[in-house]
Amino acid sequence: MTAEEQKIEAAREALRSVQSGMSLGLGTGSTAKEFVALLGDALARGELRDIRCTCTSKQTEDQARTLGIPLFALADISPLDLAIDGADEIDAQLRLIKGRGGALLREKIVEQQAKRFIVIADESKIVERLGAGVLPVEVTPFALDVLEKRFSTMGLAPVLRLRDGQPRITDEGHRILDVRVPAQSDIEEIVARIRELAGVVETGFFPTEATEALIATSNGVRRMTR
Ligand code: A5P
Repeated sequence: MTAEEQKIEAAREALRSVQSGMSLGLGTGSTAKEFVALLGDALARGELRDIRCTCTSKQTEDQARTLGIPLFALADISPLDLAIDGADEIDAQLRLIKGRGGALLREKIVEQQAKRFIVIADESKIVERLGAGVLPVEVTPFALDVLEKRFSTMGLAPVLRLRDGQPRITDEGHRILDVRVPAQSDIEEIVARIRELAGVVETGFFPTEATEALIATSNGVRRMTR
């Protein structure tokens, strides 16, 4: 089974948790995209009704709008019954790294408003230690240069996220510095130090938000719960 097929399997399994009348938070990224497509199909076929959704990015909003999924402002439908989103890394404690798609801030805002947050992923996202890849940090434009220097002195090897050769501008108008969590260090401690600095808006570390994860493997979908 390819990673693409696993993403669809996880998304399909998550759709089973959706019932008519629910309010939903829709995630961002290639796995969430599969879920949004399946949700759109289910609504079009009349298998689900009266679903109210809010999105974690403009990208997802565009997809949902194209599929005729009813969209609302977060405040109009929160608390959400359920949020569904992908992740970049998932550890055994159901802690996540998210934001490699650039939507970490809106994702965290939406997912903290959900009574239940299901992470959907292919098995490549499971890690023994968070920080195998980069940790995205969303920062204000004014603080960008000074924070880049500070993160360097902290040994975090920051790299400015680019898109088409230009600094990536998030949906909230910020920039992203991708940092490395040094081996042997505690991610919670590193994130606490990062968050002390003015100009840091949010990090892609999601320690408590996910209530469960559906991990598609070649042997079926594995459910992790907190
Ligand atoms: C978006 O900012 C991210 O948090 C995504 O949810 C995460 O990167 C997973 O994306 P994929 O499903 O594309 O791997």
